[in-house]
Amino acid sequence: MATIEASLNLDHGSDDEHHGPDLYTNDEGHPIDNLSNSLTAGPCGPLMMADSLFLETMSSFNHERIPPRGVHPNGIGAYGVFEVTHDYSQYCSAPILSEVGYTCRVFARFSNTIGDAGTSDLAPDVHGLALKLYDKEGNTDFAMTSHEVFGISDPMKFASFVHCQRPNPCSYLPDQNALWDFIIHNQEAINAMMHVHSHEAIPNGYEHMDAYACHAYKLLTKDGKTTYARFKCKTNQGLEFLNPKEAAEISGKDPHYFRRRLYELIQNGEYPSWILEMQLMTLKEAEELGYCYSNITLAWDEDKFPFHEIGTITLNEIPGNHFEHTEQAAFCVDNLPCYIEGHQDPAFTGRAFAYKNAQQYRLGVNGRHLKVNRPKNEVHNLNRDGHMCIYNQGCEPNYYPNSMGGPQIKSKCKPTETKICDVVKRYKSDTKHQKIQAGEFYKSLTEEQKKVLVSNLAGSIRPTRKDIQKKSMDLLKEVDHELAKRVEKKMKEMDLNPDP
Ligand code: HEM
Repeated sequence: MATIEASLNLDHGSDDEHHGPDLYTNDEGHPIDNLSNSLTAGPCGPLMMADSLFLETMSSFNHERIPPRGVHPNGIGAYGVFEVTHDYSQYCSAPILSEVGYTCRVFARFSNTIGDAGTSDLAPDVHGLALKLYDKEGNTDFAMTSHEVFGISDPMKFASFVHCQRPNPCSYLPDQNALWDFIIHNQEAINAMMHVHSHEAIPNGYEHMDAYACHAYKLLTKDGKTTYARFKCKTNQGLEFLNPKEAAEISGKDPHYFRRRLYELIQNGEYPSWILEMQLMTLKEAEELGYCYSNITLAWDEDKFPFHEIGTITLNEIPGNHFEHTEQAAFCVDNLPCYIEGHQDPAFTGRAFAYKNAQQYRLGVNGRHLKVNRPKNEVHNLNRDGHMCIYNQGCEPNYYPNSMGGPQIKSKCKPTETKICDVVKRYKSDTKHQKIQAGEFYKSLTEEQKKVLVSNLAGSIRPTRKDIQKKSMDLLKEVDHELAKRVEKKMKEMDLNPDP
């Protein structure tokens, strides 16, 4: 059978006949004599077209960039290990939830959402943690963020949600009008916005950050039991946050503080780790919840649905090359093992399309062949050819079924049968429970944390146009009257004393 490793075998002869790592070569492997001086006719030029080494180096440089991620472009990655520590076989038959002691390799990529690659890690932004478990069942991915709720539940709104947080298309400056204009027209976003403007806005480094998958997943057992779950990564280093002033100070000196810290910890052998946890909900509890259990703009009450420890993720290896591993990594919510299913909400299904579509643009159709994206299992199917094909499955039959000894379909894993009987139409997003949860979040804060939220909201709403400001304040009043009053007061104080 053809394997990726065999396809990558570059050993065309014995080692002592070929150059080792201590010799500069061109891209074809020929030794070169100079990488500093181009070939010119005389010391003042002109440059010779015959300088194939210059042409190769220049054109390679010109093609160095690939399209960056449309969101989360600023990131850093590390390899590590996941170990299952608790048995949930009564809820799920997937090894990552049922086989205590099972370990597999992981790749983790941390990011912020909006800032371009190279911008400050410390911007008050939603931070991402994407995980790829090289599971024996196939790649299992979780792309999570630092807040337990997301801003929108309908993927149709994703482009607008991202655009309103990007620089203004005309001035290319941050635009609070666009952000709050979006929020007042899509009021389900207020729950996430409370978290985004709270003391949780800026972690003190990725190692001090929790991350939430937000979606409800369906857990299944071999004998047909179904339970819903929401996953989270809980930091073992303890949650720590920076206030905007502290963050600005650090950012001024070291805008890449988060990535530097992460790699320093790994280099020093102080491997950062997270506990993979989940909340569980029965189908009956989901029916009685009063709102849609799978809506990602809403959280599950932690008192009723506590988090349960599954296993530990420890990051212990810095990838040898940032671009090769971190930039080319490709995650997708839909990469799941048998007995764990997604697609319980429209955003999940929207993401299942969006990520792979984005990666085909970013990496090409064969991006999945790259080392960081390859599953540990051998891949045998009908997918062939395309740009940059590294692994084309040798002489295996490329049609199915066949009598040529091709790979066999043996898996008993089938998607659960779901009866759907509802009206197909464009449903409006619910906003009632988001306001209730936003109010509960405010009430749950300490006085110190309330002050931070009030100050951040005031700073965010104050630069907006008067009509947008008024509607934003009306929305805050629906969340909590006291909060709205305090934000209004804070904005007046800021007007009197803009630079405290
Ligand atoms: C509402 C629908 C959503 C859509 C359409 C969407 C779309 C995308 C797209 C297109 C990318 C870039 C993928 C790539 O180029 O490889 C991305 C990245 C990312 N998204 Fe989403 N997203 C959505 C919701 C979410 C949610 C709910 C979360 C977390 C709970 C999330 C977390 C992330 C993370 C962490 C990344 C960076 C992945 C990496 O490091 O490569 N997204 N998203």
